[in-house]
This record gives sequence, structure tokens and C-alpha cells, in this order.
Amino acid sequence: MEEGLIGQVNKQKLPTHIAIIMDGNGRWAAEQGKDRLYGHFHGVESVRDVVEGAAELGVGYLTLYAFSTENWDRPVQEVEGLMQLLIETIRKEVPTLNKNNIRLHVIGDLSLLPAKARDEMQEALNLTAGNTGLNLIMALSYSSRWELIEAAKSIAEEVKAGRLSPEDISQDIFQQHLATRSFPDPELMIRTSGEYRISNFLLYQLAYTELYFTNTRWPDFRKENLYAAIIDYQQRERRFGKTGQQIQQEAGML
Ligand code: IPE
Ligand code: IPE
Ligand code: MG
Repeated sequence: MEEGLIGQVNKQKLPTHIAIIMDGNGRWAAEQGKDRLYGHFHGVESVRDVVEGAAELGVGYLTLYAFSTENWDRPVQEVEGLMQLLIETIRKEVPTLNKNNIRLHVIGDLSLLPAKARDEMQEALNLTAGNTGLNLIMALSYSSRWELIEAAKSIAEEVKAGRLSPEDISQDIFQQHLATRSFPDPELMIRTSGEYRISNFLLYQLAYTELYFTNTRWPDFRKENLYAAIIDYQQRERRFGKTGQQIQQEAGML
């Protein structure tokens, strides 16, 4: 990809929050005649490069879909290999995260994780908790339906305890019960590897997100691909249900 793509990114119009469905590791590996884990292993390189790219640009939040609730149903060997890769990567990357002022967060049902993976994750969360730059949110053992059901349960508990009345349940209150309560909704969602679906990712939060699909497989995805997605996003008109004319008036363009 050409060198100058970063020059076309409008730094004044950066998305605050970018979310990525990192898909295509298995197919990438198969295309090289290798097994699926080889693809996941190479996917880590892409994570490093894209995190660095987002941090350099000054993006506030980057959410990466690393493992879905449904991915637990994959062959045991792949699940175990992925968990091991995850633990190793987290352990190895903490110094780099700290050096780059990146704070790690995690969303998902961590109770399903092996205890060792959970402990490593908790340690990484603690060690990066003081960082004030990019917020890197790993969606791990995450699915949106899980998150929404958890929110419903927790709101029901509040009501049952008399701390909340049903009439007071608003979008704000609801949002405060989501795993993403501390983060703004993504403005841009990228999915790699040519699949045009959401696969149980941030269903509530993506209500007005701009979607960007690319055929590039995740292990081939680099900062330049991130810039290309941001440039595409920056050319769109986000209308939020209004008319194009209203939006242009609000922006002082008419
Ligand atoms: C994405 O790549 C990584 C995870 C879901 C963990 P896949 O493993 O889904 O790769 P494909 O879609 O089979 O090519
Ligand atoms: C979505 O990818 C989950 C992650 C990238 C972690 P999948 O490969 O699991 O999604 P489907 O099965 O193609 O919908
Ligand atoms: Mg996939």
C-alpha cells in the first residue's frame, strides 16, 4: 500500500472509538497450507501494528473482538491454543503498553476463562490502570447477547432492591449496566476477511456506527489498512435519522 495514506487522514475528524472484528486467521493459514493456530499466531502481529497505529494517531478507544462466546464451541485444540497465545501475548505486551501509555480493558464473560488466563488478564489490567493514552478494549469471551442479558439481570436486581423504579429506566441508565459503560459508542466498526455480518458484537452500541468491510484477512491487516478505513469513514455523512440538509446546516455548510 502507498506510503502517503496517513497524510490523507484528517486529524481533526478522527473517530474517538474504533471497533474491529478481527476475522480471517483460519482462512489465511489455510491459504498458506498451515493449520489455524498459525493464522492466530500471525494475527498477533496485526494487533501490535494496529494498536500502535491507533495510538500514534491519537484515537481514544480501540475495541478488538478477540474471542466470542460462540468461539468456545470450536475444536478443543484450537481453543486451548488460542488461550495460550492470549496469555503469552498479554504477558509479553504489558511493558510496551506501559511505554506507550496504553490502558488495557476487557469486556466479556471472564468466568469461562481458565484461571491462569483470568489471573494474567487481571494483572495486566492492574499494571496498565494508570495509563492515560489509548484505551485498548479486548472483547474476550464476549457476545452482545450475553452482555444485554447481564444488563437486564442487573437492572432487575436494582428494581427488586428498590433502588430503581421501572419508569426511571432510560437509555442512560441502561448504558450504565453494559460492559461498555465507561466507553463511548464506536463511530467506526471494521470487519476483515470479507464477511458481512456482526456476529454478536456490540449490537446495542453499533446503532449508528459506520461499518467498513474489507476482504483483507486479519493477519495481513496493518496500520495502512486502518488509515484506509478511517479515510473512508471521514468521507461519509452521518445523519442520525435527520436529513442531509439539516446535517449540513448544523455544520455551517449551508
Ligand atoms: C478470527 O479468525 C479469530 C477468531 C475468531 C478467534 P477466524 O479464526 O474466525 O478465521 P476464519 O474466519 O476461520 O478464517
Ligand atoms: C467473530 O468471528 C468473532 C471474532 C472475530 C472474535 P467468527 O469467525 O467467530 O464469526 P462467524 O462465525 O464467521 O460469524
Ligand atoms: Mg472467522
